[in-house]
Amino acid sequence: MTKSELKALALSLPKAELHLHIEGSLEPELMFTLAKRNGIRLSYASVEEIRQAYQFQNLQEFLDLYYQGMSVLQTEQDFYDLTWAYLQRIHQEGVVHTEIFFDPQGHLERGISLETQIQGIHKALVNGRSELGISFKLIMSFLRHLSEQSAFETLALAMPWLSVIDGVGLDSSEVGHPPEKFTRVFAKCRELGLRVTAHAGEEGPPEYVWQALDLLKVQRIDHGNRALEDSALVAWLVEEQIPLTMCPLSNLKLCVIKDVADHPILRSLEMGLLVTVNSDDPAYFGGYMMDNFNALIDALPLTEDHVRQLAKNSFVGSWLSAETDHSKPNPK
Ligand code: ADE
Ligand code: ZN
Repeated sequence: MTKSELKALALSLPKAELHLHIEGSLEPELMFTLAKRNGIRLSYASVEEIRQAYQFQNLQEFLDLYYQGMSVLQTEQDFYDLTWAYLQRIHQEGVVHTEIFFDPQGHLERGISLETQIQGIHKALVNGRSELGISFKLIMSFLRHLSEQSAFETLALAMPWLSVIDGVGLDSSEVGHPPEKFTRVFAKCRELGLRVTAHAGEEGPPEYVWQALDLLKVQRIDHGNRALEDSALVAWLVEEQIPLTMCPLSNLKLCVIKDVADHPILRSLEMGLLVTVNSDDPAYFGGYMMDNFNALIDALPLTEDHVRQLAKNSFVGSWLSAETDHSKPNPK
């Protein structure tokens, strides 16, 4: 197959997105609209100026702008509009299931209630399911640069919302904030029946991936690039078929890789790892699901089998129950 045929195939296959921060889908145009609506002054004069500012040397440089950008999200309608815009976009790309993160602490510390956040996001997700046929899971992510106590306080606030929260994650500044810091709060989350995942091995060492598995007992690893530095860890991830939710354009923009040609996803596939393609923070990193697939197809010698495997892995690695499994062949 030619590269354009592979891209057409990738577009046509049903896909699930498993690693997406909803606040990272805030496009500069919507940021401006919401700033105006809420009377917030942005430190940028134009949409072009915002896009030009999106040059990052590392994760922290991105996070600084990401937390600043989310300050325009004030009302339930803002969270709804943000989520709805993302759903409409992925609907055009063959994404039929999405498992999205939100960062409650990034809003609570600005005085925005959990109710405002969850109601806006969840109403849009429910609407997307009925109008666009996109199924979903909602993942509440703890900010790892904050304390264990802050994570416990956030979990306490989330208790009335557990019927709409499917799982918890761990994100933000990785190095210096190992998973072990959150062992007790993740144990509590598991006790409550929540599913668990964590960012690990994006900038942090393989040891952080081990900790996420052994101490947090996560069901998947978000990113996981640096797991490939540890052969015993790779063997374990292959044996247990732990999903790794990889994000090629994010890795490029945050200088985790120098070139998409260096991305470990193809090597990972060939080693039998359960890797998936995701967009992470598409408004900041230059693209949604298909931009990520297309970049991989352009840069790496992917075959038709690889493309089909990646689409299939996205459902295998998801938290969907069997009855809504879109990876099953369509009977018609
Ligand atoms: N928050 C949003 N995107 C993130 C990423 N790629 N890594 C860690 N925290 C994040
Ligand atoms: Zn992420």
